[in-house]
Amino acid sequence: MNFRVFDSYEEVSAYSAELLAEVISEKEDAVLGLATGSSPVGMYKELIKLHEEGKLDFSKAKSINLDEYVGLDGSHDQSYRYFMNTNLFDHVNMDKKNTFVPDGTTDDLMEGARKYDELIESMGGIDVQVLGIGPNGHIGFNEPADELKMNTHVAELTEETIQANARFFASEKDVPTRAVTMGVGPIMKAKKIILIASGENKAWAVKSLVDDVITTKIPATLLKLHPDVTVVLDKEAAGML
Ligand code: GLP
Repeated sequence: MNFRVFDSYEEVSAYSAELLAEVISEKEDAVLGLATGSSPVGMYKELIKLHEEGKLDFSKAKSINLDEYVGLDGSHDQSYRYFMNTNLFDHVNMDKKNTFVPDGTTDDLMEGARKYDELIESMGGIDVQVLGIGPNGHIGFNEPADELKMNTHVAELTEETIQANARFFASEKDVPTRAVTMGVGPIMKAKKIILIASGENKAWAVKSLVDDVITTKIPATLLKLHPDVTVVLDKEAAGML
C-alpha cells in the first residue's frame, strides 16, 4: 500500500483526481468504480474542473458504483444515484447510460444483485476503484462481520454506520437500515484502488491499514492483499500512523 499524506482536504482531492484522471488518459473507455460519501466530493469537484479546462474527456468512460440504500430511488436527494448525478455526472460529458448504481427499489433485490455482478463481469471488471472508509473500517457497505460476501448483496447497516450517516438525513430514523452493496470480490479484483480518508474520525480505521492484521471485523484490512492501493489522507486521518 502506498500512503500519501497531505496538509489539507483540498490537496487530498486534487491528488486523488490526478490519479483517476491518469487512468482515463491511459484508457479512454476505462471502467471507473465510484464511491459516494463526503470523502470523494472534493475529488469529483476537481475532476469537473479538469473536464471544464478541456483536460479530461469522459465520453467513452463507464462507471459502476459501490452501493445504494434500499428503498431510495434516484430522485431521493439522499440516494447514491442522486449523489452521483449532482456531484459528477451532470457536470461532465459522461453518457448517463454508461453509469451504473445498484437499484435499491426493485422488488427482487437478490435478482438485482445477481444482475449487478453480471454487469461488472460484462464490463470486464473495474480499472480503478475509488473507496472511502467507514469509521469502523467498512468499504462500500461491507460492514464488519464474521464473514464477508464476495458478491453484490443486501447488507444490514450497523448501528455505528447508521449514526455516522445520519448527518445527511433529517433524523437518524430516516436513515435506511439496509443497502445493496458490491461485495469485496470486484473491489479486490479492481486493477487499481484509490482510498480517500479525511478527518480525525477516520484515524482508527486508517491505522488498521498498517497493523499486521487482516480481519473481516475491519473489512478495509483486506486491501493489504491488493497489489495497487494508494491511500490518500489528510493529516488528521493519518494522525495515528
Ligand atoms: C458510507 C458509504 C461508503 C463510504 C463511507 C464513508 O456509508 N457506504 O462507501 O466510503 O460510508 O463515508 P464518508 O466519506 O461520508 O465518511
